[in-house]
Amino acid sequence: MANPSPALLARLADLLGSKGFSADAGEMAPWLTDWRGRFQGRAAALLSPSSTGEVAEIVRLCAGAGVPIVPQGGNTSMVGGATPSPDGDALILSLRRMNRIRDLSPEDNLAICEAGVILAHLHEAAEAQGRRFPLSLGAKDNATIGGLVSTNAGGTQVLRFGTMRGLVAGLEAVLPDGTIFDGLAPLKKDNRGYDLRHLLIGAEGTLGIVTAASLILVPAVAERAVAWVGLRDPEIALALLHRLEERIPGAIESFELVPAVALDLVLAHIPGARAPLAGRHDWHVLVEAAGVEAEARLAAALNDALGQGSADDALIAASQGQADALWRIRDSISEAERKDGIAVKHDVSVPVADMPAFMTATAVAVEGAFPGTRVIAFGHLGDGNVHFNVRAPRDAAASWLDNEGAAVTRFVHDAVVAAGGSISAEHGIGQMKRSELERVGDPARLFMLRAIKSALDPRGIMNPGKLVPLAHEPRPS
Ligand code: FAD
Ligand code: MLT
Ligand code: ZN
Repeated sequence: MANPSPALLARLADLLGSKGFSADAGEMAPWLTDWRGRFQGRAAALLSPSSTGEVAEIVRLCAGAGVPIVPQGGNTSMVGGATPSPDGDALILSLRRMNRIRDLSPEDNLAICEAGVILAHLHEAAEAQGRRFPLSLGAKDNATIGGLVSTNAGGTQVLRFGTMRGLVAGLEAVLPDGTIFDGLAPLKKDNRGYDLRHLLIGAEGTLGIVTAASLILVPAVAERAVAWVGLRDPEIALALLHRLEERIPGAIESFELVPAVALDLVLAHIPGARAPLAGRHDWHVLVEAAGVEAEARLAAALNDALGQGSADDALIAASQGQADALWRIRDSISEAERKDGIAVKHDVSVPVADMPAFMTATAVAVEGAFPGTRVIAFGHLGDGNVHFNVRAPRDAAASWLDNEGAAVTRFVHDAVVAAGGSISAEHGIGQMKRSELERVGDPARLFMLRAIKSALDPRGIMNPGKLVPLAHEPRPS
């Protein structure tokens, strides 16, 4: 892979102007490390184009010179996906200036967004038109449409609306040779061979640059209700979800599992956070229901659950402010963990029905095999996806992460594979999980991933060091 020559940098500076080109170390610094501060990279310049045409020209010039490009949106990746390698001088291609909502049609329930549109901005724009974009996550104030598409993000409404993949009706992208793929038209039916849109979704910037997406909107809801429930264990939590789904079909949009240890972290590290319930409970769930009479129906269903002993205590938010405060607790868990100290993160899925037993057995096994560690498993129980994080012993040095921490990760991932699950439910592979994907990935999956990468990006200029190597490159270890 080549470093950019002075002539290429001059050509790019000329193309993008002062707003779109920076080689200033101070300006680049925040974009050279990831949200968790685990990875540090290098770059020769930060490129911020303002149009699809400029993106295409950048890629064409870089392809000609064999110079690597790292696409970047909000830089909230949990797997170092948007952080360049420390070994060479890549170019960071930020989509953040491409932040126009090109069209928002309430009649068609569609929004055409450029890649740099921030998720919270799309939420606001849709709401202003009586619609909503039904995908949300803790990083919504920074994460961009391009990043969400490229990681096939999940979040807290997957239970009802699915992941990003189900919400993308069309895509525009620049391919690794600089050609523009125009697949924005929201066609319901299209059988022209392989599904190229779905190939680009979840590709983590390794097959091209997403420049715009047609996104599916749904009608705004008349009423929503948010509850916080205290209960005994994940098994009971999953049974409660099934009970609620039976009682109020189609209304449960979120069902997020929060262990006492995660709530404690939030209370300790997030200013203004307050425990929602008076007593102490080993586990909690945050439930959100939407639709006609959501509050009354959720209250009745939770009352029954309390009566039958499948919930120990429950509170329904009495105001929007209280509902926001409950969501803030849930959405701050990662931030609280980051402040708390050294931990390894695992974003795993197993079949939904198996998750409670998996969580319980694996937590006991991990804490037994690695004395002093503490499992903090939380998240999207209804999707069979939890963030099975493991905190280091309190006296651990930073080197723990690369030694015992790596052994913990192998232990957890082996358990996931044995349970028929996935080592990346929603965050992607990035650079963090490349060697683990290689270690536990079955040969057929790895062959197909590498073959696709090699066919579309034969020189490997698109986000090198992420997801998989080219077919002929050395395997990550
Ligand atoms: P970046 O971090 O900038 O990039 C992510 C990946 O996409 C990288 O590989 C990058 O190269 C690539 N990429 C970015 N833009 C483009 C583009 N235009 N074209 C091609 N490739 C591109 N994820 C979930 O799924 N569910 C959650 O609940 C969730 N919660 C989170 C909570 C917090 C507090 C944080 C910090 C992150 C969370 N995430 C979650 C991680 C999630 O993947 C990101 O928030 C989001 O999807 C990434 O968007 P981004 O714009 O920040 O992308
Ligand atoms: C979440 O669900 O909060 C996120 O995916 C972030 C995390 O795993 O920490
Ligand atoms: Zn998550």
